[in-house]
Amino acid sequence: MLSETKLKVLKEISSGFSRDEAIWASGYLAGLAGTSAAVADLPPQQTTHTTAVKKITLVYGTETGNSKKLATELAGVAKKKGIQVKLGDLSQYKPKDLAKEEYFFVVISTQGEGEPPILAKKFYEYIHENELNLSNIKFGVLALGDSTYPQFCKTGEDVDTRFEVLGAERIIPLKRCDIDYEEDAHKWLDHIFEVVQNKEAGTSQATPAKASSGRKKYQGKVSAIINLNDITSDKETYHIEIETEEPIVYRPGDALGVIPYNSKPVVKEIIGLTGIDPKKQIQTARVNASAEELLHQHLNISYLLKTTVAQYAQITGHDIPETRLSLLDLLRIYPVKNAEEFEVVIKALTVQAPRLYSVSSSPEAHGDSEIHITVAKSEFLINDKKQNGLCSGFLSEFEEDGAVEFYIQEAKHFKLPETAKDVIMIGPGTGIAPFRSFLWERDATGAEGRNWLFFGDRSFVSDFLYQSEFQDFLKTGALTNLDLAFSRDTSEKVYVQHRLQQKSSEVFQWLEGGASVYVCGAKEPMSKDVEETLLGIIRHEGKRNEEEAKNYLEELELSGRYAKDVY
Ligand SMILES: Cc1cc2nc3c(=O)[nH]c(=O)nc-3n(C[C@H](O)[C@H](O)[C@H](O)COP(=O)(O)OP(=O)(O)OC[C@H]3O[C@@H](n4cnc5c(N)ncnc54)[C@H](O)[C@@H]3O)c2cc1C
Ligand SMILES: Cc1cc2nc3c(=O)[nH]c(=O)nc-3n(C[C@H](O)[C@H](O)[C@H](O)COP(=O)(O)O)c2cc1C
Repeated sequence: MLSETKLKVLKEISSGFSRDEAIWASGYLAGLAGTSAAVADLPPQQTTHTTAVKKITLVYGTETGNSKKLATELAGVAKKKGIQVKLGDLSQYKPKDLAKEEYFFVVISTQGEGEPPILAKKFYEYIHENELNLSNIKFGVLALGDSTYPQFCKTGEDVDTRFEVLGAERIIPLKRCDIDYEEDAHKWLDHIFEVVQNKEAGTSQATPAKASSGRKKYQGKVSAIINLNDITSDKETYHIEIETEEPIVYRPGDALGVIPYNSKPVVKEIIGLTGIDPKKQIQTARVNASAEELLHQHLNISYLLKTTVAQYAQITGHDIPETRLSLLDLLRIYPVKNAEEFEVVIKALTVQAPRLYSVSSSPEAHGDSEIHITVAKSEFLINDKKQNGLCSGFLSEFEEDGAVEFYIQEAKHFKLPETAKDVIMIGPGTGIAPFRSFLWERDATGAEGRNWLFFGDRSFVSDFLYQSEFQDFLKTGALTNLDLAFSRDTSEKVYVQHRLQQKSSEVFQWLEGGASVYVCGAKEPMSKDVEETLLGIIRHEGKRNEEEAKNYLEELELSGRYAKDVY
């Protein structure tokens, strides 16, 4: 600081300075002080006290598109605030570029049973498997998730923790978002602006998980259950109708969420093996109920996560290799010592994850007090013994009048366009479900747009799901085109992507005319093959190179005209 006398002299001398003279003088004084602060190098309008950051990197890891949509929206807002944003998909991100980053923000969802989205897996593994030095990075993570799942926002948490371990500086606390994430995400971005513009470090504590958003639960009764496959088929796909007393709020494209119950005989066997009192009240992390109710209705006992098996090993003292198996098998091979030890095991079990089923009815056509789903009974072998998936087994064994609790999972990315627009629907197997809903809805609302369905399965005779309905739609004109691919009916296997390819020119004309394309069903390999075919059609029919075709499809996706619901 200057003394009052010196400050007075300095003010007198500098009062008549032009802007350039002031800049020169400040540089001169800095030189006298022996610093390298070459103030004269500053751009003309910049003031010396501003430290605003002008560029950030915002990357997203997504499965169903929520993180991408959000990150794109957030990037737009940031740009309006004068911050340059390098927006990127983690599937394309070159991890080596981390060394060049300064401000790095990640929006990422959690999938499966606490896993990263498939396309972000490479990045996730790279940061976890390499001892990187990320001390150049200031970062923040926005985690998308759903608190109904046992591992809420796990991937976001993992990325956040790992960046810190690798030396990056967390400048904004981890934000965990539930299904209603929009408001939280925008607050997170505002917080980034504050922190980044002032270059202030935030606290390093994660924000606590928000309580579950209290999704509406419906109590329903199964009013019809029909196996859509012929008796000669080796598949079972059930059309299930559920009725409720109160109106169900949903739109075509949404999914129905169910938390399956474990089988009573399995629970009985577990109780017998462990000696636990079935009536004993136990408080777990999320539920307080009797041992029997916890095992039957609330906890995952059918296919334990590796982390749960590891915890079981720790509790019981057994040496168990890294594996996944059912609680019953675990107890048979590695028994607990007594009921008290099993009570500790119960507390370590994760809650049962919900399963989603695309709604196959339409509120306009079927009313709001019933809802339909289309469930394929999942089958797999364990030691050559046929087993069924928990929820598909649970649902397909329902009898009429059986009580079922469910909720609606809104599909933000999978919505019908305006009624005048055309739609192309590609849905083999149970992928047909949302398109049955779309067709009934478009028919009931008198939508003028054309509807084109691509459906496929194994055999025409035994696996043509909802055959008579679709043929009726075709007759009435509700369905403009129907293309079928039955893979086992011909010597050479034919799938929906082959039918799409055969209709390339017409498909491209529909796209150019503003049609939306929807894909539903198996993620692997169907949705990948269909996407490759669509890209090929755009290249050949649209005379685009590879890059341009990708951009074309990307634009369709961003504008909501290309949507996938694959699993
Ligand atoms: C948005 C969305 C929409 C969907 N829509 C539909 C739909 O319309 N229709 C439909 O049928 N499905 C749909 N699904 C899939 C559905 O949610 C379930 O994933 C499917 O029914 C399988 O669940 P499950 O409980 O029957 O099988 P799970 O019990 O979860 O088993 C899944 C797999 O895990 C393995 N496994 C399980 N237990 C064991 C064990 N003890 N040992 C070894 N391996 C084991 C097996 O490989 C098995 O196939 C959708 C999924 C999503 C995300
Ligand atoms: C099959 C499936 C599994 C999921 N598993 C989890 C999970 O384990 N933990 C969690 O917090 N959210 C889970 N979710 C919820 C998603 O993270 C959430 O829907 C998110 O908004 C999806 O974002 P995205 O579209 O960017 O992938 C799961 C969703 C689905 C469909």
